[in-house]
Parts: sequence; structure tokens; C-alpha cells
Amino acid sequence: MLCLDEVSSVRKQVKGWKSQNLTIAFVPTMGNLHAGHMALVETAKNLADKVVVSIYVNPLQFGENEDFDAYPRTLERDKAALENAGVDILFLPTSVMIYPDSPSQSIQVQVPGISSVLCGESRPGHFTGVATVVCKLFNIVQADVAVFGEKDFQQVAVIRKMVKDLFIPIQIRALPTVRENDGLAMSSRNQYLSNEQRGIASTLYQTMTNMIDKVNNGCDYREVEAEGRESLKKHGFRPEYVQLSNRDTLLPATTLDKNAVLLVAAWLGKTRLIDNLSLKNGN
Ligand code: PAJ
Repeated sequence: MLCLDEVSSVRKQVKGWKSQNLTIAFVPTMGNLHAGHMALVETAKNLADKVVVSIYVNPLQFGENEDFDAYPRTLERDKAALENAGVDILFLPTSVMIYPDSPSQSIQVQVPGISSVLCGESRPGHFTGVATVVCKLFNIVQADVAVFGEKDFQQVAVIRKMVKDLFIPIQIRALPTVRENDGLAMSSRNQYLSNEQRGIASTLYQTMTNMIDKVNNGCDYREVEAEGRESLKKHGFRPEYVQLSNRDTLLPATTLDKNAVLLVAAWLGKTRLIDNLSLKNGN
């Protein structure tokens, strides 16, 4: 595995592969890799001849009082996992390269509409930070396909819109959420939870599957949301949003939306957990 930290060396390598008609899949990450990330890498290997993974904790997508400093950084362990998985390039950009004149002086990619609801409402600027860095990474790597996790459902919607609107020549694949045995969606942020909170955390998934059952039994969407919110509170969460959404617009779904998705963000102490389940094929 090549570990590269310069745009020109990534470009040179990718250009060489393209001249041999080889295809390239790209998996952007912020590191601290777990089985969810590694599932994306495995799929990337099946989708293309060569796989590029990036690790970069992007300051622009963190709010002022968020966990940028505390975000877990485990580069040596991540490198070993990616090497083991047969990744071809690990790209490790620096902030000087991505934001030469500081993040606030960078051109920023603002995706209207879907960026300002749900997570975008409580984390203003977050999706602009995500879209900006992903756009830069796409332009550097120039892969044929990029692989994302449905765990961050809204993020995938933002990326898809950016790619469509800016005519970025890349295919986007989204993969189902990888979960712990008790249903908790894997996340680098789970390690912020105390033992007691970790026990409670699994009730998020249980509450969500109960909600999906109620919807499938014909219950009213808004009532199901209200009951879900109450159930989370009883377990000790502070729900931020609990919404059955249209999966394209992310606006509140009605029973006419055939492919709605349940989107939830809830705080457990100082940790913010997000999860989602699709109505049709709840993963
Ligand atoms: P990060 O949180 O490291 O996630 C990298 C990729 O892994 C994302 O596509 C995310 O959806 C996926 N992922 C995380 N947990 C997962 C799980 N349990 N199952 C399946 N996939 C999972 O998302 C980011 O980084 C950043 O916002 C990034 C896109 C890299 C831009 O900075």
C-alpha cells in the first residue's frame, strides 16, 4: 500500500492506472476505522481494480463547540487494517494542502435545501464542510466510483446532489449500516459512551425497529414519531429529531411516500448518536 500525502503523487499514480484502463474506487474517511468502514473498503475492492482510501479529519465540518480536537485519531492501527485489506493507496492530506488559506478562505460548496434540515439544522455549516472536502477529494483522486455508508443518510443525499449539480464524473454507491451485535450502529463516536451509556445505546435501535413495526401496521406517522420520542426519553436519551422522511427530499413523509426512511438523532449524555432505518427493507 502506498501512503501518499501529496496531490501530485496521487494524480501520477491514478493517471498511470487509467492509462492501463484500470478502474478506481475511492472511500473517503476520517479514520479510526471500524468494521463499517472496512465493509466499504471490501465493496470498493469488488467495484474497481484499484482502491484509494483517504483519512482526513476535516475541520470545516465541525462546529466550534464540537469534537474536532477529541475526535479519535488512530493512524497506525488504521494503516495496518487498510494494508491487510489490500488497499492500493492510503491518501493522507494535510490541512495546509486542503485549505491553504485557512478553511474560511476556501471556496465552499453549499448544497441548498437538504443541507439545512435535520442534522443541518442543529449543525449549521456541517454539510457545507462535508461537501467542500469531498468535492476537493473527488477532484484530487478522480476515481470512477466512491463508496459511502447509509449510516450517514443525509450526508449521502448531500453528496449525490453535489455530484449531480456540479456534473462531477463519479458514481456514488451507498452501503447498508454495519451494526454491533445488539443493533447499535458502529461509529467512531460510540467510544465516547460510558459503560452504562453503552448499555442504554442499544435501545435506540430497538425503539426504531418498534417504530417501523408500528408504521407497517398502519399507524399514523406523526403519532409513531411522538411515541418514539417519548420512548427514547424514557430510556435516558435527549432526542434531537425523530422523523419519518421522504428519502429524496428528507422532508416529513406522508403515507403516500412509498420509500420513507426513519431518521433519528439523539444525545446520550455528551454523545450525539444518529441512525436510520428504511421502511421497506429496514437494515
Ligand atoms: P467517517 O465518519 O469516517 O465515515 C466514513 C464513511 O464510513 C462514511 O461514508 C460513513 O457513512 C461510513 N460509515 C460510518 N459508520 C458506518 C457504519 N456503521 N456502517 C457503514 N458505513 C459506515 O463520514 C465521514 O467520515 C466524513 O464526513 C467524510 C465523508 C470522510 C468527509 O469528511
